[in-house]
Amino acid sequence: MSTLKFEQAKIGFIGAGNMARSIAGGLINSGINAQNIAASDPDAKRREDLQNTLGIRAEQDNAAVAGDCDILVIAVKPQVMASVCQALSSALNRSPLVISIAAGIDCRSLNTWLDHRAAVVRCMPNTPALIGEGASALFATAEVSAAQCKLAEQTIRAVGSVCWVEHESQLDAVTAVSGSGPAYFFLVLEAMTEAGVKLGLEKQTAADLAIQTAFGAAKLARESDLDLAQLRRAVTSPKGTTESAIASFEKHQIRHIFMEAMQDCAARSRELCLELGAKSTL
Ligand SMILES: NC(=O)c1ccc[n+]([C@@H]2O[C@H](COP(=O)([O-])OP(=O)(O)OC[C@H]3O[C@@H](n4cnc5c(N)ncnc54)[C@H](OP(=O)(O)O)[C@@H]3O)[C@@H](O)[C@H]2O)c1
Repeated sequence: MSTLKFEQAKIGFIGAGNMARSIAGGLINSGINAQNIAASDPDAKRREDLQNTLGIRAEQDNAAVAGDCDILVIAVKPQVMASVCQALSSALNRSPLVISIAAGIDCRSLNTWLDHRAAVVRCMPNTPALIGEGASALFATAEVSAAQCKLAEQTIRAVGSVCWVEHESQLDAVTAVSGSGPAYFFLVLEAMTEAGVKLGLEKQTAADLAIQTAFGAAKLARESDLDLAQLRRAVTSPKGTTESAIASFEKHQIRHIFMEAMQDCAARSRELCLELGAKSTL
């Protein structure tokens, strides 16, 4: 495993829904041979579509995919992870690298369900991964080798940026920032559109302006040498229009609103882990 080249790795997906499809598509776009990729899914139409559009092998039986994989991405809903992993454990012949993208399922549960027959990496992706613009964070247990960490990173990088967290508990914070983050921006865009309409714009015009502004601001923030506060100050002239808007946001405690919302999000992430994870035997 340690000498395995990513380009030669056999990559399998369990569950071929939106995320698996995006990662598989991203891998192929980045030059990975479609013949090295397989996916399993109960839905015959979805399997046919994968074969026709991506040219990857699609199976009904999860074990048929898991059996000969070097990297196995488990991309089913969190609620079915326990049964899927337990059924898979006996099919894991080659002690593969398993990447779980299911929200709220911790490594202890994954290792228990997989009967400790795989090296487990947890990934928290977000939905812009569907268009190759995801922000994902990864966590690896101590048993995962440096070479396997690299393989995990190369896999997930197919749908956007990747960072690592040192402690598994930090994935709750990642969920609060980037996992759930796209929804915050959609909410802000909805609110900006509604306000634009109230101020006299056509709804579509207001939405187009708001979306392009968010896109441009994000791109500027990513490419600029200035930090976020400097960028904000750069467009906030004294006694100007932006200053008036920012003062209103601060008066209504926008930072406190975000702090509370994201603390709630992280707390819910911890709760889900307890609800959906393997029950501790301690
Ligand atoms: N942080 C985020 O924003 C974020 C974003 C996306 C995804 N995720 C995580 O990514 C995972 C996948 O999400 P998704 O949006 O791709 O979900 P999805 O589109 O529903 O895909 C899941 C697929 O798994 C299939 N499936 C169900 N039971 C199965 C089984 N026993 N064996 C094999 N396949 C099975 C489903 O088929 P049926 O539809 O026929 O049941 C479906 O095709 C989830 O765990 C989710 O938590 C997180």
